[in-house]
Order: sequence, then C-alpha cells, then structure tokens
Amino acid sequence: MNRVAVIGVGLTKFGELWDLSFSDLFVEAGSDAIIDAGIDGKDIGSMYVGNMSGGRFVNQEHIASLIADHAGLNPIPGTRIEAACASGGLAVRQGVMAVASGMHDVVVVGGAEKMTDITSEKVTQTLVTAADQEWEAFLGMTFPGLYAMMARRHMYEFGTTREHLAQVSVKNHANAKNNPNAQFRFDISVEKVLSSAMVADPLTLLDCSPITDGAACIVLASEKKARELNDSPVYITGAGQSTSTISLHDRERLSVSDATINAGKMAYKMAGKTPKDIDVAEVHDCFTIAELLAIEGLGFCDIGSGGKFTQDGRSAIDGEIPVNTSGGLKAKGHPVGATGVAQVVEVALQLRGKADKRQVDCEVGLTHNVGGSGGTAAVHILEA
Ligand code: COA
Repeated sequence: MNRVAVIGVGLTKFGELWDLSFSDLFVEAGSDAIIDAGIDGKDIGSMYVGNMSGGRFVNQEHIASLIADHAGLNPIPGTRIEAACASGGLAVRQGVMAVASGMHDVVVVGGAEKMTDITSEKVTQTLVTAADQEWEAFLGMTFPGLYAMMARRHMYEFGTTREHLAQVSVKNHANAKNNPNAQFRFDISVEKVLSSAMVADPLTLLDCSPITDGAACIVLASEKKARELNDSPVYITGAGQSTSTISLHDRERLSVSDATINAGKMAYKMAGKTPKDIDVAEVHDCFTIAELLAIEGLGFCDIGSGGKFTQDGRSAIDGEIPVNTSGGLKAKGHPVGATGVAQVVEVALQLRGKADKRQVDCEVGLTHNVGGSGGTAAVHILEA
C-alpha cells in the first residue's frame, strides 16, 4: 500500500451564506486546496465528494458531475459519497484507498452542503432521513430527540449531569473564537446553555450544532508525489470505518457508540497507535452528548467518564488532549456533508503548525465523523 499524504487544504467560511450557491461553495474550497497543494487541475486523477442531501436541501442531485463541471475539472472521474453526516469522512476514506492502492497519484476529496435555503422544519425532516424511516422517523423522532435519549441513558448509567454536557459547548465555543471560518465566534457559559430554549430534554439550543452552509476540500497524494510538491505534507496513517444498527431500539446499549469504538480500533491498528499517542482530535459533537460518546469510544477516557473529563478541562485547548480546536460542529458549524473533510482540514493545519491562535503542540491527530445516531463512523489518524 502506498503512503497517503494530505498536500493541500481549503475551507469556506461556515454559516448562513446567502451570497454563495452550492457549487460556488465547493469551487471556493476546492480552489484554495489546489492552490495550497501547488498542483494543476490536470494532475488530479479523481474526485470524491461528500454530500448528504443536495436533493432535499437545494434540489440538486448528480453532485459530482455538477462540481467537476463548475470547477473546470471535466473529464475527471467524479464520485459522490453519501453516509448522512459521515458523508465527508467516507469520502476521505475513498480518496485514501484510491491513492493507497496506486490507482491514482493525486486525488481531490471535498464535502459540501447548503442547508439554510429551506426552513428549519424542512431541515429537520431532511436530516431525519438518516434515521430508520419505519421505526423512528415515521413515529415523529428527530435527531435532537434521538441524541436526547442517548443523553438521558448516559445520565442514568454514569451520573452525567446537564452541566457536564454544557461544558462541551462552552469549550467548543471558546475554541471557535479563534477560528475565522467558524459560524459562532463568541463565548457562552454553562448557565447560558442550561437556560437556552429546550429542544429535546435534556438538550437545549446551545447543546445542538447549528444549521450551516459550507464546504471543505483536501488534496491527497502518494508519498512520492507529495515530496515533489510539498515541504510539509502530513500523512494519513490510519483509516477505520464501521457500521452499527441504524435504529436506537436495535442497539444493545444507548450509552456507548459501538461504531465509534470499532472504527477507532481499526484506525489505531492500521496506524500502529493507541489513544495515548493522539495529541489533538476533531470529533463529532453534533450534540454535546455526542462528544462524550466520542471521547469515551475513542479511548481518551473511560466509558462513562467523559463528562467529568471535559469538566476538568482535560479536553480543553490547553488540556492533555485538545478536542475540537476548530470549535467543533457545535460552534464552527455542521454543513453535514462537509464536516468529515473539514475535520481533516483542521487536524492537517494543526500538524503543519498553521492553526494560528488555536495552535497546539502536536505530532499525531485524529478525526472522527458519525452518520446518523451512530449507524456509521469513520476515523482517520494523521501524522506530521
Ligand atoms: N447554537 C447556537 N445558536 C443557534 C443554534 C445553535 N445550534 N441554532 C440557532 N441558533 C441561533 C441563531 O443564530 C439565531 O440567533 P439570532 O436570533 O441572534 O439570529 C437563533 O438561535 C434562532 O435561530 P433559528 O434558525 O430560528 O433556530 P431554529 O429554532 O430554527 O433551529 C435548532 C435551532 C437547534 C432546532 C437547529 O439549529 C437544529 O436543528 N440543530 C440540529 C441540527 C442537526 O440535527 N444536525 C445533524 C446532527 S446528527
């Protein structure tokens, strides 16, 4: 297998971007990544695009062809990858496999979603297509509702409190203040989280990631090509992916994410690393409880102890393992199909020493992207 390097990254601003169309978003992130990599369009062997629901959000399917066309990349082979909110993470995995196998020397991996052109009610209905339609969505379940049930179970089994959950948001908002691309760049307090509008008990507005437009892009290359083009490539040395039951009621445990545990194990094994080796991580905090399930499932702390771990500042930017230095999904924003790629952008910037005010001391980083309530997880390990 060839070693796979990240040689270029690009990211749009995240937020409500009225002035940019869906394809504008991708072209902006893609151009930045290609310029950063120092390559030409003709160097690119293939393109993978993570997108959850262009059809419902902006009435657009046939996404890969649209983007190749608008980016001036025809006749490049282009493929869209869909796995709900893990679409971006799985697109990264496809790109890694294409370069690792030797099929292509250079590939582009992007993710894009434009979510704010429809009402929040329609967004909620669109997002819940990632749950089981017959057994969850049809009965009125929503994603805040599903994660609320996981939060309640975690609280019941492990004594996790609403303050523990709120602390995740407080930390991620603090990190986003130093990320110019983040949707929300302001501090919040535990009190503010607890007193914001209840969305699905115990999760309030400030326990939830927002509705976001945005795109992210990376350029991957073989080690040989990377050395020719770039003096600071970072390598993707571990790639794990796992599925679990799509419905919560089929799951053995609600308080643990088995897909995260299994994808993590696969990535650690491939990279020859353990959780203790990870210096910085971007994890899937679509709701505050999701970050606790992530840091526990990835082995940064014991199962059930994520709340206290967070409250003690151990996942803060100056803690033992900084988690979501970008602001995470909560405060950077969560354009669902782009998120898994944006996580790789942040960790690559950290490993290159280019994360400006949010820079941490790191050599090994991890990304963790979840689809639905945990029916899919993708984990990547990156090294400087
Ligand atoms: N965090 C912080 N502030 C938020 C926010 C969030 N998640 N969502 C909205 N806001 C702010 C808006 O900026 C706006 O502020 P303003 O009045 O100062 O302009 C205000 O709250 C109202 O925004 P609005 O768009 O009307 O909120 P909404 O009620 O339509 O949507 C949620 C709020 C929580 C329902 C929505 O953000 C949501 O569905 N989030 C979850 C998304 C999700 O499920 N993703 C997939 C995960 S698997």
